[in-house]
Amino acid sequence: MERVKLRGIAAKLLGQVLTQNSSLDHAMLGLADYSVQERAQVFEWVSSTLRLLGRAEWILNSLSDRKKPSGNLGKLLKIAIAQLLSQDTPSALVVSETLEAIKKLEGKGPAGFANAVLRKVSDRRLDWQAWTITEKTGRDEIAAWASVPRSFSDRAWNELGFDQFIKFFESANQRPKTWYRKLGGGDLSRAEPLLLERGVQGNEPPGFVQDTGNQQLCLWVSEVVRARFSAPMSFLDWCAAPGGKSLDLADRGHIGVALDPNELRLPRLRENVARLKFQDRIEIGHTPTWLEQDKNKDRRFDLVWVDAPCSASGIIGRHPEVRWNRDWADLGPYVREQRGIVDSALPFLSENGILVYSVCSIFREERDVAKPAHQKFEAFTSGDFSDGLRALAYSR
Ligand SMILES: C[S@@+](CC[C@H](N)C(=O)[O-])C[C@H]1O[C@@H](n2cnc3c(N)ncnc32)[C@H](O)[C@@H]1O
Repeated sequence: MERVKLRGIAAKLLGQVLTQNSSLDHAMLGLADYSVQERAQVFEWVSSTLRLLGRAEWILNSLSDRKKPSGNLGKLLKIAIAQLLSQDTPSALVVSETLEAIKKLEGKGPAGFANAVLRKVSDRRLDWQAWTITEKTGRDEIAAWASVPRSFSDRAWNELGFDQFIKFFESANQRPKTWYRKLGGGDLSRAEPLLLERGVQGNEPPGFVQDTGNQQLCLWVSEVVRARFSAPMSFLDWCAAPGGKSLDLADRGHIGVALDPNELRLPRLRENVARLKFQDRIEIGHTPTWLEQDKNKDRRFDLVWVDAPCSASGIIGRHPEVRWNRDWADLGPYVREQRGIVDSALPFLSENGILVYSVCSIFREERDVAKPAHQKFEAFTSGDFSDGLRALAYSR
């Protein structure tokens, strides 16, 4: 399919993600009939636009004195601006493809307006790419530079401080890399994450896709556990799908149960466990069904790991739509859910066991507050990892 048409499809998908609160992965399911290359191109355009939408809108507003461009015109312009900011595709190509798409979808008048805007952005392309902020920059511009809603930016600014704020968003607004966790065998504490250039090719050693933050977190948990138990210990992975934590624990010789209440996420967990031949180390269960079975009521585990669902504020680079579809002013619903989940998992912890609570959020409210309601539990250690990951280990 010609690239001009693909731009129209990217604009439609961008609208769907932004207005229907749909995840990009879910929206991409609608493109199942397209070729791999076409899907990859659309995904690249939409995901980089979602990452740089705040900047694109700021630039667009600064250049158009009339009403803000909306509909297909607005979306195609934002895709083009995000591309000019983040990639090295020649400006002339980005502009001509975009103008053709606008002409087809909206007519000549809007294309003329788009031409004027995109020429201005192209002329200052390097300046916009080098856009920086200081501690004195206004809050609206800071949010635009960070490319998140003001409520997210203000909260992050207060919690992280200037230097960490810059570091976090510089990384969150880059195209994320794909990292791979090789299965062990040797010294897992020195295993280097493998960087995959274009996703899994099929010729890697046995393993699974896992970002570096999660690989650091898993290593940290293995050390926390080793200080108390000799392998194999028993684990209960309470929020398990698609299985990163259970696969890591099984690879280190531990044996346990991986549960998840979301039936749509369980098949990926099952596939991963079967592919890596860990069926004898990992028992998989759908949480409500597992809980109903009498034989499970009295089971206790050395490690209970609650890798809780959260706002995902730490992984807005990998899941760029998340920044636009959450209410960042109120994290209360997440914290209440996290507390509830911790309290449901706790009865399965052995007397001497360790509870690990982890989230991929940069916000203190979610990172530290969801401790067990049970008075007797104390956090005895904590760790911070890249991608905003945070873990706390509790014991009695
Ligand atoms: C952060 S993800 C887990 C990622 C997984 N541990 C990994 O490393 O591959 C959170 C998981 O919690 C599950 N979840 C959502 N609500 C839950 C609940 N009330 N109790 C337990 N798990 C829940 C979600 O289905 C999701 O799979």
